[in-house]
Amino acid sequence: MPDSTTACQEFEVAVYTSPGPTCGTFSRVWLSLIGSQGETPPISVNDLLLSGSKCLVHVRANDPLGQLLLVRLRLEILNGFPNLDWHCSRVEVCRRSAGLEEAEAQVFHCDKWLQAADGEVDLRSGDLCLVAEETEEKLQLQRLRQLQHHQELIRWRTFIEGAPACADLKSPSELGPNLSFTSQSSAPDQHYLKGLCRRVEPWKSFSELEVVFAHSGGHNQVASFAKAHWKEDWYFGHQSLNGCNPLLVHQIRLLPPNLAVTSDMLRPFLPGDSSLELELQKGTIYLLDYEVLDSIPANVINGKQTYLSAPLCLLHLNSQGQLVPIAIQLQQKPDHQNPIFLPSDSSCDWLLAKMWVHNADFQYHQLISHYLRTHMMSELCCIATLRCLAESHPLHQLLMPHVRTSLKINLQARAGLLASGGVFDQAIASGLKATQALLSRASARIRYRSLCVPDDLLDRGVHTLPHSYYAEDARRVWDALHRFVVSWVDVYYSGDNDVQNDVELHQWITEINTHGFSQHSGFPQSFCSKAEVSKFVTMIIFSCSALHAAVNFSQLDFALWVPNCPTSMLRPPPQAKGVITEDDILGFLPDVNITCRVLMVLTMLSQPSSDFLVPKPGRQQPSTKDCAGGEPNSTWADTVSGSVTKTSDTTFEPEAGARDPPAAALRGGDVS
Ligand SMILES: [Fe+2]
Repeated sequence: MPDSTTACQEFEVAVYTSPGPTCGTFSRVWLSLIGSQGETPPISVNDLLLSGSKCLVHVRANDPLGQLLLVRLRLEILNGFPNLDWHCSRVEVCRRSAGLEEAEAQVFHCDKWLQAADGEVDLRSGDLCLVAEETEEKLQLQRLRQLQHHQELIRWRTFIEGAPACADLKSPSELGPNLSFTSQSSAPDQHYLKGLCRRVEPWKSFSELEVVFAHSGGHNQVASFAKAHWKEDWYFGHQSLNGCNPLLVHQIRLLPPNLAVTSDMLRPFLPGDSSLELELQKGTIYLLDYEVLDSIPANVINGKQTYLSAPLCLLHLNSQGQLVPIAIQLQQKPDHQNPIFLPSDSSCDWLLAKMWVHNADFQYHQLISHYLRTHMMSELCCIATLRCLAESHPLHQLLMPHVRTSLKINLQARAGLLASGGVFDQAIASGLKATQALLSRASARIRYRSLCVPDDLLDRGVHTLPHSYYAEDARRVWDALHRFVVSWVDVYYSGDNDVQNDVELHQWITEINTHGFSQHSGFPQSFCSKAEVSKFVTMIIFSCSALHAAVNFSQLDFALWVPNCPTSMLRPPPQAKGVITEDDILGFLPDVNITCRVLMVLTMLSQPSSDFLVPKPGRQQPSTKDCAGGEPNSTWADTVSGSVTKTSDTTFEPEAGARDPPAAALRGGDVS
């Protein structure tokens, strides 16, 4: 072993540029080596930093460096050349000493974009570690400086009072390349919808809707199935379990006091030898309750007042294993002008009542199941992670690939979809006022148990229901993720004491609670054990990946046939039965231009990104090994079901052409 305290040491240094086509730069990099006892003056790397290149530089230290701890890099823009970001893969340093063979190279991983504006950037060598394990003072300082830098860059801001905070940013450019992304979705098919966006008038007939559907959604099998079966009760129940909003339906053992149904009223829809009381006892009665929408002001669209309801819908699990609606009350307060609609009512009354439920469900889905539970959750955790967990903290590395893109996508959503002139303001029943009220109200009602799949499925009684496919899949994905997270936590926390002593972790959960949900949410206020940390981290990853995929990518399928999912209603909820005819139903639907504008947005949002990253054999970060068999039949689930070791043999690299850095392992429909 060479003596690291000896004066006049020489090093062979190799600087690696990542292989993506835009990873190179015209700029020049300056490099210095930082040891426990000293450091070398900056030396420039004179080779071109080409994509996929390895540049060699010889470094001589005239004074003892001690143990080599950091490599410091700085980019210098060259006169006459554009200021391009550089994606550095790593730096390898090999110490040479007289009379000795070349020692093994020490690797300093980077795997991120560097900019001239960053100034000096220090790369660390070695494994991820907890702050308590950081023994070298220079590494402790580097860790602290990095967190301070992130805290200056990413600050909290209130978006809506009572809802989780967001990042205080004016423009996506403030995020820099490592927190940004380029959308690589293929262009969505909006050709036929676009042409109708200037037609400011009601639909003339269902035939017109069918023509538009045939052009814009005829190839979508789920949408075509929804169009064929949207009036059928079994399909209504099926959507509550397996549609784009499978998070609301729940089993009840007692009727809500404000639902004015009676046992006699429901007797015709229950088995002949049973009763409502018996079915409640048996656990076959379920409820959709849109109480959060009660008294929310509805939007004015195309100069016309729209209307919202806050329905209660009872469902029954029948002997065929179908969950079917058996009673609908459109407003929360029982009243003689708030009738209970039943399957025995006229087909128009019953169909319209179900449309009102789906109109309420659209608002709930977009703002609560989708935006609040996945997008806002992701941003909350991304900001806290950047500000509180150093990059060398194992949970920073585990979480960031799932939440990294949330800052930019949510900034765009606040500036576009949710802003004045955006689609909510101009085309959806819950406009800007309603959006604020709903997000604030829903944030106050959210509970930690409802975000953790096993607890949620148990509490809602949907885990044992037949044909409850979301529940089945969510449980399998959660279990696979949880096993992976437990393995990861086991590698870095030797016991619960390590958890209790991790000051970065405690600062992290404190910021999440301070800027997240209410004290009644049941979120852990601190962590005492590895099990608590593992569950919480699994919840975040699940919310930002699998749940987002479930509620985001399916939304167009169920909304393309507009009567199945009216995004606004142009007439008020009926206050009596028997007054609506089949011809009237069309008059409730949004105007042509509004229908098409919303569908265009849903088409865009439902488009999966094509810039996913694939695992390749390689190096560095802790990774999956010995993937367990018998998991859901996807390679993604296989990947996350493996155990974790500190020494890895897998890395994740961008597909050719991808702009994103190769850190985004394990993505599976993350928020973006
Ligand atoms: Fe989304």
